[in-house]
Amino acid sequence: MYTVNILQDSTAANYERFTFPAFRYVLQNIEIEKSVIAIAASDLDKPLGLVLAGIHQDDQLAQVHSIFVEATHRSAGIGTALLTRLETEVGKRGCTKIEMIYTTSKPTTPALERLLYKCNWTTPKTRMLLCKGSVQTVLEATWIHKYSRLPSAYNIFPWVEITAQERQTIQKQQETQAWIPEDLIPFQYENNLEPLNSLGLRYQGQVVGWVINHRLTSDTIRYTCSFVRKDLQKMGRIISLYAEAAKRQYEANILNGIWTVPIEHESMVNFVKKRWFPYLNSVDETRGTGKLLN
Ligand SMILES: CC(C)(COP(=O)(O)OP(=O)(O)OC[C@H]1O[C@@H](n2cnc3c(N)ncnc32)[C@H](O)[C@@H]1OP(=O)(O)O)[C@@H](O)C(=O)NCCC(=O)NCCS
Repeated sequence: MYTVNILQDSTAANYERFTFPAFRYVLQNIEIEKSVIAIAASDLDKPLGLVLAGIHQDDQLAQVHSIFVEATHRSAGIGTALLTRLETEVGKRGCTKIEMIYTTSKPTTPALERLLYKCNWTTPKTRMLLCKGSVQTVLEATWIHKYSRLPSAYNIFPWVEITAQERQTIQKQQETQAWIPEDLIPFQYENNLEPLNSLGLRYQGQVVGWVINHRLTSDTIRYTCSFVRKDLQKMGRIISLYAEAAKRQYEANILNGIWTVPIEHESMVNFVKKRWFPYLNSVDETRGTGKLLN
């Protein structure tokens, strides 16, 4: 047997292992966190499951951060009970919709999608490809060597060395020509970037491309944002940037890379499927789903 309750006091800390490390501090401060709701399933004092969500009052939106049920108690309706109670509670707090983004990397993804279906959430839509691989394997790809040498009009530089003038030029060009998709503008990703292999590409003295990366763990770097000006894309200049970035992290003994490709960037998606696929450890998806609340 189990009961489902809102967590409102210090017992919330007993559920830390049921959410991602990034949200554990929330459980420690649940008494004062007004923008978060935690609902737990337990058998007497024994924690069995947790759903955690953020509430954005201004948008009347609830965002599920995580849902987790103890492995030994799965497929017994606990996940459904947690999500159903969450919907009711966020509805009482003024939310008119609830959303969730998750990755398909877990063995229990089919169970999660079944649960969402049972609760009448929208059919999940792919948002991004999530690629993981070892840089050594990627560097062994024969076709990548073709792009390792750039003509002399190009030069790759550490992104941290971009000049104030170059920044200004990019911004001005963007205002008049909007040549960079909004989500690939590099400046928004500079916080805590990995200096080792975040790189820029100059062509005839102009900055025309970049790969901005972040260290996730001691052995893994995320390739967060990469772009090369449209007229140069067909020449595969972005591969030269990836190859150089991969080489630099390999030489520093940081052996794993992870990167996402938004599904709307069709050419990149095709590129991953056609070229990278055999050299990656896994290609998963992030998916988004939601529900309107009455
Ligand atoms: C996803 C998760 C929360 C589901 O919890 P749960 O308590 O098992 O959920 P429920 O029992 O309410 O519903 C699961 C449904 O999926 C079904 N199911 C289980 N395994 C399945 C599979 N491999 N394929 C299809 N359906 C499956 C169950 O039979 C059940 O459906 P039913 O009620 O029609 O029989 C749980 O598996 C979990 O904690 N996974 C790990 C964490 C995770 O991945 N969280 C999501 C991202 S944060």
